[in-house]
Amino acid sequence: MTQMPLGEDAQQALLQAARAARRNAYAPYSHFAVGAALLDEQGRVHAGCNVENAAYPQGLCAEAGALSAMVAAGGRRVAALLLVGEGPSLLTPCGGCRQKLREFAAPDTPVLVADAQGIRQGFTLAQLLPHAFGPEHLGPA
Ligand code: THU
Repeated sequence: MTQMPLGEDAQQALLQAARAARRNAYAPYSHFAVGAALLDEQGRVHAGCNVENAAYPQGLCAEAGALSAMVAAGGRRVAALLLVGEGPSLLTPCGGCRQKLREFAAPDTPVLVADAQGIRQGFTLAQLLPHAFGPEHLGPA
């Protein structure tokens, strides 16, 4: 199924939700606050922020939080995801989060990246994670 283009209203709703989540980021070690928001298959928005830990590898990315919120609310598909952060270069999802997203999204799912200025760039998941391993590689359960 081909992804519908993401409307301006949906983009702004994701930006607002991601920014609100980012304000709650717990990032005392990196001081790098990240917010993520995604649209599920029912048009609902779920958001997350990064949650760091004194045991550094136990920290969670913002995308992981947003995906977890979606699944806990009964959502199973990501129609679009937006990530917001501020830094010297444009934030894009880390490799692990690209793979986490792959579980619930299609190759043409839009992934938007934003900073203080607003939405800066759009990718498809396939651009960020080409030739990805996914559930279908496992065959029928
Ligand atoms: N971070 C995210 O939340 N998402 C990403 O895709 C990139 C990195 C967080 C993890 C850590 O808390 C901080 O940014 C610095 O790496």
